[in-house]
Amino acid sequence: MSQAQPGILAACSKLACYLTFSLMEVAAARKAVKSFCATADGDKTVVGFGEPLVLALGGRIQGLRPFPSYAGPGVSVPSTPADLWCWLRGDDRGELLLRSRAVGRALAAALRLDTVIDAFQYGDSRDLTGYEDGTENPKGKKAVEAGIVQGRGDGMDGSSFVAVQQWVHDFDRFDAMSPGDQDNSIGRRKSDNEELADAPASSHVKRTAQETFSPEAFVLRRSMPWAEGARGGLVFVAFGKSLDAFEAQLKRMAGAEDGVTDALFKFTRPVSGGYFWCPPVQNGRLDLRALGL
Ligand code: HEM
Repeated sequence: MSQAQPGILAACSKLACYLTFSLMEVAAARKAVKSFCATADGDKTVVGFGEPLVLALGGRIQGLRPFPSYAGPGVSVPSTPADLWCWLRGDDRGELLLRSRAVGRALAAALRLDTVIDAFQYGDSRDLTGYEDGTENPKGKKAVEAGIVQGRGDGMDGSSFVAVQQWVHDFDRFDAMSPGDQDNSIGRRKSDNEELADAPASSHVKRTAQETFSPEAFVLRRSMPWAEGARGGLVFVAFGKSLDAFEAQLKRMAGAEDGVTDALFKFTRPVSGGYFWCPPVQNGRLDLRALGL
């Protein structure tokens, strides 16, 4: 029986590296992807396929689609499709760098390494604004229910869809906000992580409250802070049994539902956005049957 890539359900590692690739040589894609995937365990290396690569391989994954983009006053949500996404998990930065290089080499005949993002855990799972991130994540059986495909047959069951966005924080802007305004923008108190009963409609947790959607929109978030020099932010990562829950949340955050935009946009912006399909694993190897590989 196939199962989820273990890295999806595990707690976030101490450090991580996110890689994206573009397909350059269609004719070489099948061989390169197949041989790379034989070395990826789904635990230390979580792998996701973008729609363009799935199509180039001759496959079709129902539910995988282009990432939506939104533009409005103070809101810009870009769609930046990539062919392949790898989430390298570990606890040693040197080892992660060398593994990134090895993945790049393994795929080089067909795919070009486009972006590398260094990510890490901050405190007890905090965003760089200091707020705890992940509190309302589903756990145990509920995590599997929200994040993993079931009942769609061999090759699909155990797989997962993932939405990935790199957000860049404007730390000066955030620091200029009063502690009360900061708490109101998230909808939780930074000091004790309590949800604010009277949080404004624009607060992030009001915008994304998973049980307020119809149908309920639960996702399995595995976001991590990133930094490069003095720049930093969050790599937002949400796994789902489909992309619908994430998309409903993003639409509401962008104000496309009721004109109220998420207060997060006052101090942070996404600069990338992609959707990927993460195949299941069978006997410790990625199960690529749904891609015809
Ligand atoms: C820089 C970007 C973001 C930051 C800093 C951030 C931070 C947070 C924080 C601090 C919480 C409260 C604690 C928790 O339950 O985890 C939260 C909740 C949540 N966020 Fe985000 N978030 C970001 C982007 C997003 C995006 C893009 C989405 C989805 C489109 C999203 C979906 C959620 C959901 C579903 C919850 C839980 C809501 C609930 O059911 O109570 N977040 N986020």
